[in-house]
Amino acid sequence: MKRRKFLKNASLTGVGLAVGTSLSSCNEKASEKNKATQTTSKKASLPLVIATWNVPNATAKAWEILQQGGLALDAVEQGCKIEEADVKNQSVGKGGLPDRDGNVTLDACIMDKHGNCGSVVHLQNITHAVSIARHVMENTPHVMLSGKGAEKYAYELGFKKENLLTESSKKAWEKWKIESKYKPIINIENHDTIGMLAIDKNGDISGACTTSGLAYKMAGRVGDSPIIGSGLFIDNQIGGCVATGMGEEVVKTVGSFLVVELMRQGKSPQEACEEAINRIVSKPNSDYKNFQVGYIAVNKQGKTGSFAIHQWFSMTKFQDNKNENIQSNFVIKA
Ligand code: GLY
Repeated sequence: MKRRKFLKNASLTGVGLAVGTSLSSCNEKASEKNKATQTTSKKASLPLVIATWNVPNATAKAWEILQQGGLALDAVEQGCKIEEADVKNQSVGKGGLPDRDGNVTLDACIMDKHGNCGSVVHLQNITHAVSIARHVMENTPHVMLSGKGAEKYAYELGFKKENLLTESSKKAWEKWKIESKYKPIINIENHDTIGMLAIDKNGDISGACTTSGLAYKMAGRVGDSPIIGSGLFIDNQIGGCVATGMGEEVVKTVGSFLVVELMRQGKSPQEACEEAINRIVSKPNSDYKNFQVGYIAVNKQGKTGSFAIHQWFSMTKFQDNKNENIQSNFVIKA
């Protein structure tokens, strides 16, 4: 049976995709590794943190906080800040690739164990978008601040104005302008949105995500990352999910909320991530071969899962004093 048809049938019959074995033709190695991360009857040891892509420094920072008995909320904020400050990461924070007009604009959100959330959209000149999102959540009557309003709020909080466009990102943009073709790159430098989910020693879950969005997007474009339910969703009774990749496709399927709701219905984090990707690839006329979407998820028991459309999406997991990068299973082999 063709894979696409299989995916569709799995969805229609309500049978979750069989993990690992059914997709082993795609990637035996990832399948083997994945088995280690998926649902077993054993309760997972806490605390733990997972993040999209290969971000060991970010998960190490989060782990340090969790190990000391810190809150999952502090862990995910501080973990995301590591990537925001890393100018070598061109999809997040300072050093992020700009929009087609040469402006670096950031989207971020955060959600806590109570279901509170905050986000910033199209934020400029401030590196730590995730921290502003947290302030929006904790210190304003709102959920979301955008553009100039978000930037003004950041200055009021004492954050400093910074030029986020590094020489290297400026050069890349100038090169792009020669042809000005908008074709988002799949797995851009194995990064994109950094999303993080943590469970602290109390068993409470929080999550955050941060991004400079798609490189060379139209001015004003906003992706999934600051949209609660799309880029991130947490239900402390059930689990959490965060997305990376082509934000438009995540928004159209309300991806992270979907994954959490699927876990509520009894699916494992792995099955839920696979079903959410299946919703995207099984749409009639879906152009999924030309874009990437990846999800990572964790449930209340500390079981984790991850799945993507294309090969080479990965999840970094810090648990039991081990910080490891785990290749995700996927629909399409590179
Ligand atoms: N997932 C990041 C974006 O689409 O902006």
